[in-house]
Amino acid sequence: MRKDRKNYWHLLLFLELIEILTKFADINVNLKNNTVMKKQTMPVDGKFELMALPYAPDALAPVISADTIGFHHGKHLLAYVNNLNALLPESEFEGKALEEIVLKAEGGMLNNAGQILNHNLYFAQFMAPKADNAPTGRLAQAIDEAFGSFEAFKEAFAKAGATLFGSGWAWLSADADGKLVITQEPNAANPVQRGLDPLMTMDVWEHAYYLDYQNRRPDHLAALWNIIDWDVVASRYE
Ligand SMILES: [Fe+2]
Repeated sequence: MRKDRKNYWHLLLFLELIEILTKFADINVNLKNNTVMKKQTMPVDGKFELMALPYAPDALAPVISADTIGFHHGKHLLAYVNNLNALLPESEFEGKALEEIVLKAEGGMLNNAGQILNHNLYFAQFMAPKADNAPTGRLAQAIDEAFGSFEAFKEAFAKAGATLFGSGWAWLSADADGKLVITQEPNAANPVQRGLDPLMTMDVWEHAYYLDYQNRRPDHLAALWNIIDWDVVASRYE
């Protein structure tokens, strides 16, 4: 009898262990499959915050001036953050991750959340200008495989940015198989809405370059290659 009871407890423990391991495996599979979840940005106390720049406002000059950073980050992005925070209370998106809002919301909620997600990825990917700046390792290999060479990729990307009509974003993203693609996204759209994993972007809204380059969008895009922090971009491709 005592032996039976011992076996019973062993069985329960064994089943409990199996359940824990299964749950852990499910979570891992979900995180692996749902790349959006890996990059989610959560509000703090119900509100989104203006992201802190990982460099000084003048660190990107002369490619992007401190003036442009001041307006673009300190005014435009701040306005999107304030707008979204004003829309969230008592909506179904209160307390939700930025990516979830971008995937499910509509109208002003979607546009402001999309612009915060876009700009957070944009501002975090820069560093001080560096000559002969290029990706390395697995990312460089994937770029060669998808586009033929880094030069061919830059040409295709610049074309996507230059030919995007009106306001929007050119993106380098990875699909579910890790294959790299370039897309044009209008206005506040983000590649997550296509099921892609966004890696690197160029903002072609005029507010991103007009102070420094006026109407010369292609010149601005060409200069941006010197300040892309490829380590940051590669970290998004892991
Ligand atoms: Fe912008």
